[in-house]
Amino acid sequence: MRHHTTFRQLEIFEAIARLGSFTRASEELYLTQPTVSMQIKKLTDTVGVPLIEQVGKKTRLTPDGRELAQATRDIFAILDRYMMSVAERQGLKQGKLRLTAITTASYFAPRLLGDFVKLYPGIDVSLRVTNKEQVLASMADNLDDLYLLGTPPDEIDVVATPIMDNPIVVLAAPDHPLAKKKNITLERLAQEPWIMREAGSGTRNAIERMFAVKGLAIRPRLELGSNEAIKQAILAGLGISALSCHALTLHQPGQFAVLNAKGFPIQRHWYAVYPAGRQISVVARAFLDFLLQQRGDSSCAPGGGNPYCGKPCRKA
Ligand code: PGA
Repeated sequence: MRHHTTFRQLEIFEAIARLGSFTRASEELYLTQPTVSMQIKKLTDTVGVPLIEQVGKKTRLTPDGRELAQATRDIFAILDRYMMSVAERQGLKQGKLRLTAITTASYFAPRLLGDFVKLYPGIDVSLRVTNKEQVLASMADNLDDLYLLGTPPDEIDVVATPIMDNPIVVLAAPDHPLAKKKNITLERLAQEPWIMREAGSGTRNAIERMFAVKGLAIRPRLELGSNEAIKQAILAGLGISALSCHALTLHQPGQFAVLNAKGFPIQRHWYAVYPAGRQISVVARAFLDFLLQQRGDSSCAPGGGNPYCGKPCRKA
């Protein structure tokens, strides 16, 4: 009677080839030894040449057996890849993506997420915008898939991928006396009344570091916990500030004066971050790939460019 090779037989054969023993193969596969022996006999009959030989107590593959072992590994590798791609397609059809973004990332995160959802309409997305403390807490508790941050945390070991430029520009009201000056020094800027974000803000830290390098300190006149409030205060003539150009995404050119100051813009980046050692989901990986793809378009706001980020929009 003619036998057909089954995957079970190949699986048993692969285990014997790898472990060099019928006994260990039967243990690994939770089979009895007679079952293993019988399946190998059937496989050998089908192939028509000896595959395994016993030399003393040793189980060895014949040259034909070694070739079959290689073919078996190739078949299983192809199957594994196939199963993985099916799982990926399924995941991208109906998966979940949980994102947390730090305050200032709220200016671009929804747009990116919106574009991503157009590509993968079945994915259920959530976005939380919060402060640094909360971001660190969620990261420590492993609550989200990815985090969008301006400063990868020191406190937690993370994988951080830069996804976008984040230039910090000095802003004043358009009628400010410094608006038309060139190469304004940091010393001069430090004399102005400043409107600053709250302590702990990544934007604020970057500005303070910049002045500290020159031995300068700026004394905030106003401390406001939101970029929106800062923009209002600038326009009210209460002082100057420096913000991520992304915070100006929906503003017309000329609404704010971007001061021509030495050392500015401070060149920072936005990062997509996840805890090191974590296997990120298929959906999170697809979102990360999407972020990297659109990196060239980072300054483009919906409906046009962002004049404050200084890069033209790439034409569609
Ligand atoms: P923010 O921005 O903390 O100033 O909102 C994040 C960062 O730039 O690190």
